[in-house]
Amino acid sequence: MSTPVDFIAALTRIVGPQACLTEAADTVGYTTDYRKLYRGDALAVVLPASTEEVSQVMALCHAHAVRVVPQGGNTSLMGGAVPEPNSGAIVLNLRRMNRVLAVDTVNDTLTLQAGVTLSGARAAADEAKRLFPLRIGSEGSCQIGGNLATNAGGTAVLRYGNMRDLVLGIEAVLPDGRIYASLRGLRKDNTGYDLKQLFIGSEGTLGIITAAVLKLYPQPRAVSAAFVAVSDPRAAVQLLGLAKQLAGPQVTAFELVSADAMALVCDYLGGARPPLAGQPAWMVLMEFSSTGEQAALDAQLTQVLEAGMEQGWVHDAALAASLSDVQAFWRLREEISDAQTRTGGSIKCDVSVPLSDIPAFIDAASRQVQALAPGSRMVIYGHMGDGNVHFNPLRPADTPARDYLEHHYSAVSHAVDQLVHHLHGSISAEHGIGVAKRDDLRLYKSEVELALMWQVKRALDPQGLLNPGKMLPVV
Ligand code: MLT
Ligand code: ZN
Repeated sequence: MSTPVDFIAALTRIVGPQACLTEAADTVGYTTDYRKLYRGDALAVVLPASTEEVSQVMALCHAHAVRVVPQGGNTSLMGGAVPEPNSGAIVLNLRRMNRVLAVDTVNDTLTLQAGVTLSGARAAADEAKRLFPLRIGSEGSCQIGGNLATNAGGTAVLRYGNMRDLVLGIEAVLPDGRIYASLRGLRKDNTGYDLKQLFIGSEGTLGIITAAVLKLYPQPRAVSAAFVAVSDPRAAVQLLGLAKQLAGPQVTAFELVSADAMALVCDYLGGARPPLAGQPAWMVLMEFSSTGEQAALDAQLTQVLEAGMEQGWVHDAALAASLSDVQAFWRLREEISDAQTRTGGSIKCDVSVPLSDIPAFIDAASRQVQALAPGSRMVIYGHMGDGNVHFNPLRPADTPARDYLEHHYSAVSHAVDQLVHHLHGSISAEHGIGVAKRDDLRLYKSEVELALMWQVKRALDPQGLLNPGKMLPVV
């Protein structure tokens, strides 16, 4: 088997002819990212149906030194799930591995294949009267394997943690085709290195995650939410402190939304009505949830808001009167991302700093952006409760997207990252590195960190077969 034709024939024998795509018309959806910013090429796209098939594909690629780009729902914002141009790689998409394998309501675990979508996982938990708490806007498309490979975050991290915190066991195929089988549902296991953690957040550079055991939680019986007008980000931080003090773990989400972000999303949703009158400069979407009574939870939220008003941090609030109000509030928040994609010309900075530095960061970064790219719309929003801001300056309405990005992308993102670094923050809080931030990593990781990352990579993938060109900067 020395020619590409032989190689493709061997791939086809493993996964079957319907699951080995080579025509450009069939592969383009897998080689282009969902924002259409990154386009690459692949020798083939394979869609294995089992861990055994993934293992055989990987062993074949290992024997032929063919590189492999693992792919879930292809919703990466960082170009992490598509091949690079002329990559000579294959794409291995896991969408056919979409079975729920086991639900254990005594152990509170859900075992599933990596290609189950996040909404599929949430539905399986719901059917068992449990909660799987990861919540991100792309839940209908993104897959559990990708959520794990990127350590996804989202809007309920404040209460439940990132994907890394929500998993007990994984199964992954190694670059030589061996299977790391650790589908254990244990909350305690101190038997040496916690190897699964290596694969979580590795962006497919160390192994292909094929299955996982996830943690389940009690389903909340009560959910209360409010959109709140706050004076500024400082008041928002203070309100969060108060909420945690008064409502403890019931504080489930705490999302900041700027006036420009709200205006953009209302426009995108065909002129949706903003939840608060008077176009407040800063808003917070707060959600409380509990297994107790709805009335008690509503009272707790009201108490927090009244205390916030007394302090002068809260100016106005719209409380959700029903579950459909709660959903409408979340729609406004979650569609901001697509509103930016549709508008084009957005400089995405997914950053985190210690919560105490959020106000100073927003202040200083906004001033720098206005100096570098005057007239930018300040689309600032995100998971403030986690110290994670999506600080995404957007082109002025009358500037074409391409001009704005050409002139400002590099200077603005560099200035924001420098500021974040100065505040001991992270230049990628939850979106990962992919190709978009790969080279920047060199500036913000220490020599020791970069050397260790490469040592791990070379130990697990000495031939550099998995997700080439992603995450690890050339040093
Ligand atoms: C979100 O929280 O909506 C996304 O992570 C942000 C984004 O798409 O930039
Ligand atoms: Zn986010």
